[in-house]
Amino acid sequence: MHKAVPVNKDTWWVGVNDHETDLFESLWDLPQGVSYNAYVVTGEKTAAIDTVKGPWLDEYFHKLEEVLGGRPLDYLVVNHMEPDHAGLISQLRARHPGLKFVGNAKTMPLLKGYHGIDTDTVLVKDGTTLDLGGHVLQFATVPMVHWPESMVTFDTTTGVLFSNDSFGGYGAHEGGLFDDSKTRTRWEGEMLRYYATIVGRYSNVVQVALKKLASLPIKNIFPAHGTLFREDVGQVIGLYDRWSRYEADCGAVVVYGSMYGNTRRMAEAVCSGLSDSGVKDVHLYDAARSAPSHILRDIWRYRGFALLSCTYNTLLFPPMEALCSKLLNRMPKNRALGIAGSYSWSRGALDALREFARDIKLEVVGPEVEVFASPTAEDLEQCVELGKNLGRQVGGPCPLQS
Ligand SMILES: Cc1cc2nc3c(=O)[nH]c(=O)nc-3n(C[C@H](O)[C@H](O)[C@H](O)COP(=O)(O)O)c2cc1C
Ligand SMILES: [Fe+2]
Ligand SMILES: [Fe+2]
Repeated sequence: MHKAVPVNKDTWWVGVNDHETDLFESLWDLPQGVSYNAYVVTGEKTAAIDTVKGPWLDEYFHKLEEVLGGRPLDYLVVNHMEPDHAGLISQLRARHPGLKFVGNAKTMPLLKGYHGIDTDTVLVKDGTTLDLGGHVLQFATVPMVHWPESMVTFDTTTGVLFSNDSFGGYGAHEGGLFDDSKTRTRWEGEMLRYYATIVGRYSNVVQVALKKLASLPIKNIFPAHGTLFREDVGQVIGLYDRWSRYEADCGAVVVYGSMYGNTRRMAEAVCSGLSDSGVKDVHLYDAARSAPSHILRDIWRYRGFALLSCTYNTLLFPPMEALCSKLLNRMPKNRALGIAGSYSWSRGALDALREFARDIKLEVVGPEVEVFASPTAEDLEQCVELGKNLGRQVGGPCPLQS
């Protein structure tokens, strides 16, 4: 996507594809890259909606100036101060000295802190409108989706909601920008992975934001990452509503931490039990080798998960410990949880998982299996039993799955 793309009346996508960043936020893998979607609306006055991450300066300005065609940029709407969108604010001001910065009360200290800007600002709050001449923009704050100053911008003329991180997804654009140029499976998984890693922790405020936006006649949703939605906006809002209410599909995730395969065999037995009880979507992950974002995504997708860990220097196996910490940071709800541990001398893993289960406040499905050294046939039977019990919790009816 080397050119600006018209995406609605007087409205242009001037974003970029990032195939170079390995880890988003230095944490989350990007097997298909990520896009930073920035936009411009050209009424009698011109307004940019967000910028992109710093290194994509040349490409962003090339597209922006192509749209402006020598006109000055009058406004930058700062929906979010995270540097993947606010990265070029200082450079934009240098190129357009008359530029005014539109943000809410929580935006302003961050604008000063990151870019030293505290003049030429336009302070807005919920419901404030900005008349560009031909397009009237209206602002709605959505605090903590994803930062305190996060807001969305609604073009009352076109019905476009510039939703910033809300409704965003990983994955660079491959061909078409829009949902109607690809199948749902092309965007939904990466959108859920983005939700689970970035937004999910704030699900309760997503619910508040959805209620706030419900009264707007939204025709298009243009997020700051990933696919642009114009075909079935209701479907996308429905997904966000479901994910933020912790509703999940039939199925289960089994994650193990194992050095020599004993705990892995236990995990495989749990999977057999799940399958025996008729669960069709069973996903087995090695905590040491699978990217955490994929595990988190599937934990957000399915109704239950099991964690199995060997003991390592009296504690949890480190990659399992890291996963538990990520889960505690997000506190998924309405999930059934199975736990099991292995050890050779002091014990430790199962106790740590019991503590995790208490802290994350999920219902634990028994039996809690603890294995000495290599699992015996009876131990593995116990694991199968755990899988079957988990299966009873995470099975049908599942209306969304065939
Ligand atoms: C580096 C290392 C540290 C370990 N630390 C402990 C420990 O502190 N307490 C314990 O009971 N077992 C400990 N173990 C034993 C393992 O938990 C035990 O061998 C278990 O069966 C390994 O399971 P795995 O085959 O799935 O890796 C340790 C093993 C290794 C290799
Ligand atoms: Fe963000
Ligand atoms: Fe973002």
